[in-house]
Amino acid sequence: MVKDIILDCDPGHDDAIAILLAAGHHDINLRAITTVGGNQTLEKVTRNALGLATLAGITAPISAGHDGPLNRNLVTSPEIHGESGLDGVTLPDPAMDLDPRHGVDLIIDAIMESDPGTITLVPTGPLTNIASALQKQPEIASRVAEVSLMGGGASVGNATAAAEFNILVDPEAADIVFSAPWKVTMVGLDVTHEAQATPDVLDQIRALNTPISSFVDDLMAFFIRSNQREQQFAAPPVHDPVAVAHVIDPGILATEHRPIFVETAGKYTTGMTLVDRRPWINPDKNTHVATGIDVDRFWDHVINAIGNL
Ligand code: BDR
Ligand code: CA
Repeated sequence: MVKDIILDCDPGHDDAIAILLAAGHHDINLRAITTVGGNQTLEKVTRNALGLATLAGITAPISAGHDGPLNRNLVTSPEIHGESGLDGVTLPDPAMDLDPRHGVDLIIDAIMESDPGTITLVPTGPLTNIASALQKQPEIASRVAEVSLMGGGASVGNATAAAEFNILVDPEAADIVFSAPWKVTMVGLDVTHEAQATPDVLDQIRALNTPISSFVDDLMAFFIRSNQREQQFAAPPVHDPVAVAHVIDPGILATEHRPIFVETAGKYTTGMTLVDRRPWINPDKNTHVATGIDVDRFWDHVINAIGNL
């Protein structure tokens, strides 16, 4: 079944793979791309989104959202993604213009113009735009099928001991998103750390022998080095496309329906996603945590989509 998604992202090497997966997979109808300040400044990630869309032949509207968190200063991630946000590759000049609407308005319009329950939101950056859209038009909560977001983790952090980068950048926004009356699936580090671009995966991508596959190869070459240097991964975890893959093929992830809370003011734990795993607590929030992943099936989808482009 083809699913309509809105991808809200901050490209970013792994966001780029999420975009290519969404663009190339036959079971996804990419309705819009919106950008948010995160891995790099809004200006840079938006430029990257336009270049990637040009490369992949994407015709969906693309618009720029918030340049930083709701009420904090933006912290970027040049050590992982470089000064451009996508170091290691050269992007084509954009072949399209940005949609003139603010990203938040594009998200709201796309949801309100669609039949209820048909759009899945896939945020792969800080949750600023999504929280802002909820504040501006709370009705979107009842019209979205699901929010499949890359962020957080039940047992591990990366930006700090307790927090994953996307949640740490804008914990207040994350708190709003996890508290809203809609289904949230947290595709966090517990599963994305398994989704590594191993030498075998890269061989399969290279074997496609297309301009896009060699682009991905170059992209991953930089990402391998930065992840080895900064986080000691032999093969880099490619986080963001896992949230798209969950929409394509929900069986790819094992999930648990548990209450999830976002820590906004901890002494050591700001940005932590606290998953209440006490078995006697009945979840009254529609929040789900991903706990397992079929890694081979995940990469099959990604490689298949890259081959389609
Ligand atoms: C997340 O942080 C960003 O650097 C990546 O693009 C991903 O969305 C992983 O913690
Ligand atoms: Ca991202």
